[in-house]
Amino acid sequence: MAGLVVAIDGPSGSGKSSVSRGVARELGLRYLDTGAMYRAITWWMLREGVDVGDAAAVAARAGEPELVVGTDPDAPAIAVDGVDVAGPIRGPEVTGAVSAVSAVPEVRRRLVARQREIMDEACRDGAGIVIEGRDIGTVVAPDATVKIFLTASAEERARRRTAELTGTTLEAQREAMARRDQLDSTRPVNPLAKADDAVELDTTGLTLDEVIAEVLRLTKERT
Ligand code: C5P
Repeated sequence: MAGLVVAIDGPSGSGKSSVSRGVARELGLRYLDTGAMYRAITWWMLREGVDVGDAAAVAARAGEPELVVGTDPDAPAIAVDGVDVAGPIRGPEVTGAVSAVSAVPEVRRRLVARQREIMDEACRDGAGIVIEGRDIGTVVAPDATVKIFLTASAEERARRRTAELTGTTLEAQREAMARRDQLDSTRPVNPLAKADDAVELDTTGLTLDEVIAEVLRLTKERT
């Protein structure tokens, strides 16, 4: 692969999005939020009234939604069937249902193929891409230039997420995140996992700038 690929995985609230966007900006790379793609498909399933607990029903409709995904780190856009869903995909309905939808193999097969296309295009047309998710280093980009697995204590991850959202408590957030991480790491297909050759970076107590600086240092080391 000609371009630079920075793969960033980790559980919810580990700081993946802010770190990935910052790194992409610094290096002049494209940026892909794969979680937003799973969220957008989930939003569409809910809108269509598909029972997200019924894996066969989700699989049967997985090819219908038309996703348009932007890769600008300053304005990561996402639309489904022509509807801008950047806001609604962050709501509690989608967040509560996304792990069930993303566990469906047919959904993953389609989105992973799409993510690889976006990655190849960024490497062909530009300097490369920062991709964040749960299975980037293990499945989507096993040959990535650098693989980072971000972690932080459960307390800190819940605190960060609570600060971003309104109408939630630290305790409710901690429970919701633990549930989602449990589902994401125990699904049979492409679970949340650290690649063997990924560098684990515990961001507890670090500032965003410190984490970005460390990812830039690790990237430089490998290029
Ligand atoms: O990163 P974010 O929290 O927005 O991801 C939402 C959900 O999408 C995750 O909880 C997980 O179920 C799913 N996901 C995934 N694989 C990825 C990225 C996200 O299964 N590569």
